[in-house]
Amino acid sequence: MAARPNLDSGAVRSAQLADDGSRWRSRGNKLPESGNYFANEATHTFPSFRPSSPRIRRRSPAPTLPARIELRVPSPDRLRREPADRLAFGSVETPTASIDGELMATAEARIPVTDEGLQRGDGVFEMIRLYAGRPYATDRHLARMARSAESIQLPIDVGGLARDVDRLLAAGAPAEDAALRLMVTRGGRRILIIEKLPSFPTSMTLACVTYSPVRLLDGVKSLSYAANVLAGRLAREQGFDDALLVTPHGRVLEAPTSSFFWVKDAELLTPPLEDRVLDSITRRLILDVVGGREAITTRDDLDRADEAFLVSSLREVTPVHRIDTVELPADGPVTRATAQEVAARIRAELG
Ligand SMILES: Cc1ncc(COP(=O)(O)O)c(C=O)c1O
Repeated sequence: MAARPNLDSGAVRSAQLADDGSRWRSRGNKLPESGNYFANEATHTFPSFRPSSPRIRRRSPAPTLPARIELRVPSPDRLRREPADRLAFGSVETPTASIDGELMATAEARIPVTDEGLQRGDGVFEMIRLYAGRPYATDRHLARMARSAESIQLPIDVGGLARDVDRLLAAGAPAEDAALRLMVTRGGRRILIIEKLPSFPTSMTLACVTYSPVRLLDGVKSLSYAANVLAGRLAREQGFDDALLVTPHGRVLEAPTSSFFWVKDAELLTPPLEDRVLDSITRRLILDVVGGREAITTRDDLDRADEAFLVSSLREVTPVHRIDTVELPADGPVTRATAQEVAARIRAELG
């Protein structure tokens, strides 16, 4: 079946259908044969595509289309539904979102569909935990966001973001604990959303999922999180609570949105930053306050682990009681002590 052009791509606007009718190439710009430049037929149809520019000519007949194309369109209700109930938060009177400093209810927040933050996941984000409306470690999150943005050559206004945080929380800080999502897109938009905290289990199971970090995005908390989200979904499909990301060579990294710690002979260990895990704010807090050592960790090492836990700004510390088939205590002494010290330190800093 002939491949069809990805109409999203600028290259296609000046593209020609090659002689064999199976490849589209941009004018004077041969694309590598191995690249996946074509829309997936299962999800995209182009029933009446006509080149709109006179510069585009067909040199062979267009790919044959099936006589009848069935589009499966979700119901308007489904389209309108919020992505998750964590977003259904606040009310019109209490703003829960901010776009470029303008406050609004989350349901009213809009950005143009042309923003490349949406189209390509080109942008950066942070998740800050709100404790009874008070943000923890805002400066550290903004500093990491600035580093992430610099790494992907995205200009951002950190001062503007800090003011946005203050204004939004002054206008609508929730009384209960919550999450504050910060995003900056390639389109230059500063987006803040107050969300419900996810419900974290008291202890959890992890399935190892093979994953290779993208070198160019080293240390970057980018909007391109589809692989992380998919890893979690694959783990949940198998009946686990979350994924543990492991490289094809067997190096244990982290969870899709949390850092990983494990214990062997009462020593607290965590995979090193050199293995391209995120420089997590909670991981750093634990290494500073509780101690612990960065150690290259293989999947086989975990067969001999005494305890394990996940950490993040939103969850603090969650014990892990199984990794694949390896059973672990849900309430190990090092995990419990770490959770207590982290909670105490955060509350002390908040004052
Ligand atoms: C891949 C990844 N690792 C670790 C973490 C934990 O980072 P932090 O402690 O800064 O929230 C996150 C947080 O979202 C993450 O996305």
